[in-house]
Amino acid sequence: MENTEELKKQLEYIDKLTDVVTGLKDRLGRTPKCAVVTFGCQMNARDSEKLCGILIKTGFDTDADETDADLVIYNTCTVRDNANQKVYGHLGTLKARKKRQPGLKIALCGCMMQEHSVIDNISKNYRFVDLVFGTHNIFRFAELLYNMYTSEDQIIDIWDSTDDYVEDLPVKRKYSYKSGVNIMYGCNNYCTYCIVPYVRGRERSRDAKDIIREVEKLADDGVIEVMLLGQNVNSYGNGLTDGISFPALLLEVEKVEGIRRIRFMTSHPKDLSDELIDVMAASKKICRHIHLPLQSGSDRILKAMNRCYTKESYLALCDRIRNAIPDVAITTDIIVGFPGETAQDVDDTIDVIKQVQYDNAFTFIYSKRTGTPAADRVDQVSEEFAKEQFNRVLDAVRISAGTRNGILTGKVVEALVEDISDNDPSMVSGRLDNNSMVHFTGGSDLIGKIVPVKLINAKGFYYIGEMTDSI
Ligand code: SAH
Ligand code: SF4
Ligand code: F3S
Repeated sequence: MENTEELKKQLEYIDKLTDVVTGLKDRLGRTPKCAVVTFGCQMNARDSEKLCGILIKTGFDTDADETDADLVIYNTCTVRDNANQKVYGHLGTLKARKKRQPGLKIALCGCMMQEHSVIDNISKNYRFVDLVFGTHNIFRFAELLYNMYTSEDQIIDIWDSTDDYVEDLPVKRKYSYKSGVNIMYGCNNYCTYCIVPYVRGRERSRDAKDIIREVEKLADDGVIEVMLLGQNVNSYGNGLTDGISFPALLLEVEKVEGIRRIRFMTSHPKDLSDELIDVMAASKKICRHIHLPLQSGSDRILKAMNRCYTKESYLALCDRIRNAIPDVAITTDIIVGFPGETAQDVDDTIDVIKQVQYDNAFTFIYSKRTGTPAADRVDQVSEEFAKEQFNRVLDAVRISAGTRNGILTGKVVEALVEDISDNDPSMVSGRLDNNSMVHFTGGSDLIGKIVPVKLINAKGFYYIGEMTDSI
């Protein structure tokens, strides 16, 4: 539920924190610098924009590098153990720096902080961390930061769940022309390998009118592309008393003037409806890209993962999508090395890769997450076997993506210019409707604009192009 009392309280804390930051500025003789370091998915990226909104509003410079900031915030991810280890690695470096620079403040938030074992570890072994909070109370950031600056003690505030969310707090978008929009929080799917439902809580959909109001405000502010965010957008609306379905929500977002592109992430294959395919096929604004995590192509493993679809039903779904939207790009996530997985199971996964011809796939080695059902299984596979199988899957992905890359060569398409190209300052990088990138000659004046580009040739995952006058 949207909580207006809480909003009022947090706006008061923003004022109080502003006074604290002004005092800090006087002492330092310059604007205090903050670095927000984000790990993990789009949800975390969006949360970090909320943190930055409050930091800027209260007087921080948020462009600082981690190595010379006065305040460092890690917004953490715990979906795989390596995400976890990265944070501990960074903390080791910060500990040494804090000895030299006692004024340095360190805050941790995000999914990893929702794990009890992590909190135990930090409260015992990382006493130099000043503030720890979780995913459910991020809307209290101004209050928490105020408390941190006015106290000597380590502050740890973690909630197990929440029914509240607070909208209308300041947000600083990373990109002026595009934005993520949360349409739901949490996840109810309990895939047996996955920790997300435990750290993000149960699934809660936002009211459609709040979402549309946010998209309208973004459009007024110059945003032309929105990405609707949820762990399983296809179950949007479940649990709302007067809720609408995800395709119906898309139709509403499509009506918002100024918005020219709509993306969404992520689609669970079990809930992707024909209605959604029809809405996408008929739409001028919804991008031709579906991220459709497969995880495994083996029915046995899919069942053990609690994914609720089969190889056959997944392939049939991809066929329906491709038939209705011929130019669609399909991408996926794959896990290799799930407990009990054999080479024959991986053959099934490779078979799906060959049949679907993914435009791209993110392949992960299974990571055991404490508290999930799969972690308790006795048939964990060896690291060596998992790596071998992982390489087989990677080869199949490379071949499939290779046949898809370049299919648009010679065409003139629209690209949304995102940035100056990393490798060549005389070029810009633009994103196509199907999520591929194109690099072409152009200047920073093009950033945030949609322009027609002729795709000259394909180089792996991207194109080299040339701006033209019209489509
Ligand atoms: N809600 C999204 C996924 C979010 S997590 C969905 O269901 O599609 C992003 C990806 O991380 C997942 O698709 C999965 O491939 C991977 N992942 C999740 N838990 C993992 C684990 N324990 N080990 C390895 N990869 C994992
Ligand atoms: Fe994790 Fe499954 Fe939920 Fe995705 S749908 S977040 S993989 S539990
Ligand atoms: Fe990671 Fe949390 Fe996203 S665990 S993948 S940041 S929801």
